[in-house]
Amino acid sequence: MLIRGIATIMAIVTTHSAAAGTQDHPAIIPQPAQIQRTDGEFPISKLRAVEFNHSDADVQPVAEYLASWLSDATRRTIPVSQSAGHPASGTITLNRTNANASLGDEGYELRVTTDAIRLSAPTPRGLFYAVQTLRQLLPPKPNATPNATLPCLAIKDQPRYRWRGMLLDCCRHFMTKEFVKRYIDLLAFHKMNVLHWHLTEDQGWRIEIKKYPRLTEVAAWRDEGGQRYGGFYTQEDIKEVVAYAASRFVTVVPEIEMPGHSVAALAAYPHLSCTGGPHEVANRWGVFHDVYCAGNDQVFDFLQDVLDEVIELFPSPYIHIGGDECPKKRWETCAKCQARIKTEGLQDEHELQSYFIRRIENYLNTKNRRLIGWDEILEGGLAPNATVQSWRGMRGAVAAATSGHDVIASPTSHCYLDYAQMRLPGEPTNMGFIDLETSYSFEPTPPELTPSQAGHVLGLEGNIWTEHAPQERVDWQVFPRLTALSEVAWSPKELRDWPNFAKRMMAHYTRLDALGVKYFLAPPQCDSRHHVFTDTLDVALRNPLDRGTIHYTLDGSTPTSRSPRYVKPLTFSKTTIVRARTYLPNDRVTETSEFHLRKLEPLEPVTATRRAPGLHCKYYEGHWRRLPDFDPLSPAATGITDNFNMTLRKRTDAFGLTFTGRLEVPADGTYTFHLRSDDGSRLWIGSDLVVDHDGLHSVGNASGQVILKAGLHPITVHFFESGGSEHLTVSYEGPSIPKQPIPASVLWHKDE
Ligand code: ACM
Ligand code: ZN
Repeated sequence: MLIRGIATIMAIVTTHSAAAGTQDHPAIIPQPAQIQRTDGEFPISKLRAVEFNHSDADVQPVAEYLASWLSDATRRTIPVSQSAGHPASGTITLNRTNANASLGDEGYELRVTTDAIRLSAPTPRGLFYAVQTLRQLLPPKPNATPNATLPCLAIKDQPRYRWRGMLLDCCRHFMTKEFVKRYIDLLAFHKMNVLHWHLTEDQGWRIEIKKYPRLTEVAAWRDEGGQRYGGFYTQEDIKEVVAYAASRFVTVVPEIEMPGHSVAALAAYPHLSCTGGPHEVANRWGVFHDVYCAGNDQVFDFLQDVLDEVIELFPSPYIHIGGDECPKKRWETCAKCQARIKTEGLQDEHELQSYFIRRIENYLNTKNRRLIGWDEILEGGLAPNATVQSWRGMRGAVAAATSGHDVIASPTSHCYLDYAQMRLPGEPTNMGFIDLETSYSFEPTPPELTPSQAGHVLGLEGNIWTEHAPQERVDWQVFPRLTALSEVAWSPKELRDWPNFAKRMMAHYTRLDALGVKYFLAPPQCDSRHHVFTDTLDVALRNPLDRGTIHYTLDGSTPTSRSPRYVKPLTFSKTTIVRARTYLPNDRVTETSEFHLRKLEPLEPVTATRRAPGLHCKYYEGHWRRLPDFDPLSPAATGITDNFNMTLRKRTDAFGLTFTGRLEVPADGTYTFHLRSDDGSRLWIGSDLVVDHDGLHSVGNASGQVILKAGLHPITVHFFESGGSEHLTVSYEGPSIPKQPIPASVLWHKDE
């Protein structure tokens, strides 16, 4: 299945504990293209002034931004002055005139000597990025460490992708304009340059449109259990945010959703829907049937009027029109929509959606603006100049780029920062998550593209949808993963190095602390590969944050700062649940992690009877949301399969499969089983339920362990698929068996 809110990938956080950035290797994120360390250091006490050449007038705002930041950070007055000559001792010079043109629009050079600092770039934007790098070379709190030094070095840097964005959904939850400005600052600090501002939704319309006052009187507010919830940005607020973003070299791309996700607007102007309403601003999450009527010209008049005002407010060359998740149910029975299908010679409602988007694109193009839409705009034919934002995996990216369209990569698997960062105890096992390493592993350019097609990949965007993230939760969801995405978007592919990034992250956390960012705190991890044992088990806990102290309990209670402090590996001789959390020096505390350590008897093999290769497989038909008890049900087919495959299946939706047989293991030891499935699955060895991955979910992993004696062991796997995409992989690993799908060569059944 595919629904937003469920990740498709999971992995385990593995950070490497190591010192923060050292003088030899400054820990900069995103990693610059080239850094050359030279001898010596520049003492920050020497800083006197920021200078720029008087002929570079457009550099002045960047110089002032830097001086103001430095004055705040050092609690000293660092003035800006104009200079024409050689950089004086203790100055930071911003130079544009003599910059190396090959650095392009966004590149820069930065040189620190024992005497002065020089930033060069062909554009103010490049200088702004040099300033961001300089901020990271300085200590996070320069006033607290007045004797600190900067390493002498030369940096030459420019970005890999030109589109380095983050979406912010201010509809599901409203965010203040101050919060949005702070978010922009955090993007800029990571050299990101696009804020994709999601401004209209089923649950709220957030932008003042003068011609349609009911959008802010009605559509901006919803009823939440008797309370009025909502808010909107006045046109003055929007201008302020856009101007602020421009000063940080961030382009604000507004998203005005159509034809779906439009219930709030329909509540204000019900004549724009197929049914005529009445409608209410949605107060639950999901996808709604009521959408703009595609057969009614008043809808296009309305949207064009809205876009006219949007275009006035946003200088962005691109306007995002959504286009995702538009159910066609109302259109199917609407006389106006059906008439439109006829008069326009369209095949179906998908082509009607395509008609809708093309018509809007035409309009935007006449205003000299370009349209971006989510990958659903590919369905029914893509508008001729559209840029596609690929979110349902990367198939949309490939389809768009191969047909010559520009692409922004935002697959749910790596870029949806509304997904959890790890699986925490008590959370449903079918909820996927995206950890920092997964986000870091993202490759925005699909390998199947030719070099010229790859040129259509503008870059990436991380998304924070805010159904479950009011303003105060946004930092926690977005950080630290935004930092990983910033490096994916900026740094040369060859420099991508997870252990090195994880190390740099340790220094970066202290910068985020200084900026007051309430990032996700990874709880302690368990380094033991095995969680089951027959005799005793030594378990080492690891702190991915490399700071603070771990406290743990062994009685199932939640650890407090008075619980035992973890100092060395623990030895267990009985089944135990370890719960642990890290207390940080700045009074923050992580979530609790939980490790189930089980003392088990090894399972004896069955005495071998006559056997034949393969498994007994039974195929069932039925609609389930969880695995049923298959026993009393009648299978629609039975047979022998080589392994855990779907060869007996007769349809792709609403079915179940059971596999039974014997697994042959060559040696005594601990075996780990993994179920990767969409939808639910379970695995038993003998009568022990070893892996439980039941429920409706998109493809994801679950694992479990058991101790086996060499020989043949009864193995059973149950699986069901409700609808949508399907997947089942049964893997194992054990003594001298690396993790792999269980091969047919070790699977047997009783030959009766
Ligand atoms: C989306 O997540 N519906 C674009
Ligand atoms: Zn209609």
